[in-house]
Amino acid sequence: MVDTPPVVRQTYRCMVVCHCNAVSDREIRSEILAGALGADEVAVRCGAGGRCGSCRPVVEALLAEQGVDIRPAISAA
Ligand code: FES
Repeated sequence: MVDTPPVVRQTYRCMVVCHCNAVSDREIRSEILAGALGADEVAVRCGAGGRCGSCRPVVEALLAEQGVDIRPAISAA
């Protein structure tokens, strides 16, 4: 099995990405544009990816599509 990120097609219709919490791609994109910087933050803001986690690869693809660089947390030294 090839481990490649899913391609998320932009359409005029909204697509439910997170079925656990009924969150659409538009809502996730909106949270990313509002400043969400990772899948955990998207989950906190709108619930996508906050339960079973099966939608997280799509959330991460949406983050990448919006140019969000997924970085590890910075700890104070
Ligand atoms: S489908 Fe999104 S958390 Fe389960």
